[in-house]
Amino acid sequence: MARKKVLLSRIFPKLATQLLEEAGCEVIAWDKEQPMSYEELTSKAKNCDALFCTLTDKIDSTFLNACSHLDIITQFAVGYDNIAIEVATKLGIPVGYAPNAMNEATADIAFGLMIATARKMFFMNQKIKDGKWGSFDPVGHLGLELKGKTLGILGLGRIGMVMAKKCKGAYDMKILYHNRNSNPEAESELGATWVDFETLVAESDVISAHCALTPETKDIFNKSAFDKMKPTSLFINTARGAVHNETDLINALKKGSIWGAGLDVTNPEPMKPDNPLLTMENVCVLPHIGSATITARNEMARMGATNIISFYKQGTVPYIVNLEVL
Ligand code: GLV
Repeated sequence: MARKKVLLSRIFPKLATQLLEEAGCEVIAWDKEQPMSYEELTSKAKNCDALFCTLTDKIDSTFLNACSHLDIITQFAVGYDNIAIEVATKLGIPVGYAPNAMNEATADIAFGLMIATARKMFFMNQKIKDGKWGSFDPVGHLGLELKGKTLGILGLGRIGMVMAKKCKGAYDMKILYHNRNSNPEAESELGATWVDFETLVAESDVISAHCALTPETKDIFNKSAFDKMKPTSLFINTARGAVHNETDLINALKKGSIWGAGLDVTNPEPMKPDNPLLTMENVCVLPHIGSATITARNEMARMGATNIISFYKQGTVPYIVNLEVL
């Protein structure tokens, strides 16, 4: 293979560089912790053949038109809402991604946030740090139990399925879900039931978002949805922050239309340190770490490198978003 220049937009797991170099690519890697600016990314990509990027990179129409020479783009994530896929497709640029790599890791975060929120764990931990342990309190800060409750999943795909299995196994939860298409595997294995979105929000005790961010799901958890939820319900979001309206979420928690929220994604990211969600008793927030395990991140690196290497060696992209390009 002729020596191809691959731009790595962030510091990715070493495995990505190792595999690309072993395959004869020249790797140009950004070496700072913070992402490079849009302008820097554009100017560096202009001198490269392939781009290995992630969700902090804005790969919009302007970027793609300026870098239409790129042979392939591969995304270090399962979600690719930061990439103008239709534009890439029109320009004939294949876009790879990393499906399945983080199913366990992200479902663990959703499951963990569900328990942490139900038991006010982050708030109670902060009390210790603030010197406010006090003493054993028979009636203070009581939480919720999850056994036998109803889990409602928006987007019962690969990650949602793992979350549903964990909830079924640990708490014998009843599973409701809303998807564009039904999920026969979830129905037969877990007894999951497809319901419309209104029923999902009205009947679930825990609502967990696992959907992609699309025009249909943007802001879907808004005032109208929160108003329909049970006042004892938990809202868990490990998908994308823009799936919920953050002002409406804050108001819903203040008003008591819902009981609590566990978020691994916020809107916007990063969340400002003075966001009221961070001091609410029934809220747990994490800084988008769903896929942050050694196993998941290495697998994501392997998938991205494999996409680029197979493209140059065989003309195929094993983990591809826009197959029609090939
Ligand atoms: C992380 O958010 C991902 O989409 O992989």
